[in-house]
Amino acid sequence: MADARSIALVCANEASLWAELRARAQKVAAGEPALAPALGRFVLDRTGFGEAMVERLTHRLASSPEEAPLLRQAMTEAVAADPEALAQMRADIRATLERDPATEHALVPFLWYKGFHAISIHRLAHALWRAGRRDLAFHLQSLASERLSVDIHPAAKFGVGILLDHATGFVAGETTVVADNVSFLHEVTLGGTGKERGDRHPKIRSGVLVGAGAKILGNITVGEGAKVGAGSVVLRNVDPHTSVAGVPATVVGRASVDAPALDMDHSL
Ligand SMILES: CC(C)(COP(=O)(O)OP(=O)(O)OC[C@H]1O[C@@H](n2cnc3c(N)ncnc32)[C@H](O)[C@@H]1OP(=O)(O)O)[C@@H](O)C(=O)NCCC(=O)NCCS
Repeated sequence: MADARSIALVCANEASLWAELRARAQKVAAGEPALAPALGRFVLDRTGFGEAMVERLTHRLASSPEEAPLLRQAMTEAVAADPEALAQMRADIRATLERDPATEHALVPFLWYKGFHAISIHRLAHALWRAGRRDLAFHLQSLASERLSVDIHPAAKFGVGILLDHATGFVAGETTVVADNVSFLHEVTLGGTGKERGDRHPKIRSGVLVGAGAKILGNITVGEGAKVGAGSVVLRNVDPHTSVAGVPATVVGRASVDAPALDMDHSL
């Protein structure tokens, strides 16, 4: 989980990220008039990053004009219940910028990346869950699953600096714990085996890179700085800084850097 220092660093960047988003939105609106209404609604007419996030996520999830005010209200209350969620979202935008070479500026994940939207919706659902508002939390989970094909139980715990790249088909169960600075490709399952009750989902330590389609099953630990190859089925603990691949996954090497999640080098 995020320590006080990392949260403080992210909070310190709040003003600069918001200024960056506004400056880029003005530039894009001038160059692409078709996008000007959306840029007004999501960025230029908003008073700050929190209000902007709520508006963007409301638009992502609402299927009718009647639904939008209710979602806006629910998400605003979630931010009030856990203001740290906004710092986590800022860290996730930074993580995307630093790790995804296709991302040129912060406005791109903020406006368009459903992986960023999905983890942000989860952060709000988790805030509601912790505040005891479980039905509303399940409602956000259900809408995210339906609209974004990302299904994260509201109780699952995620640290800061999470990249859900592409994101389609990502699933995480109730007792999942993911540390800081972890990167996942699409169609990853952090699931139970179906044979255990209680604490039954994976624990993913910091710096881990999980390839597309990997299934990590059971209350097992993927150690710090490990790599999981695409399409693997991981059924046993993975040692730190170790690469595993295959069905079932076996050790195929040692990770060559401390935190594979950060450099996104998928070679095993
Ligand atoms: C439950 C499950 C993980 C293991 O079932 P199991 O019958 O108890 O099997 P075990 O864990 O005792 O493993 C038996 C052997 O089969 C292998 N094995 C187990 N599941 C495997 C799988 N999915 N693919 C390939 N091999 C598998 C194990 O590596 C083990 O091999 P070994 O004896 O050489 O060490 C497996 O059946 C499974 O994949 N279930 C689906 C769970 C799921 O979809 N969860 C997602 C929830 S969101």
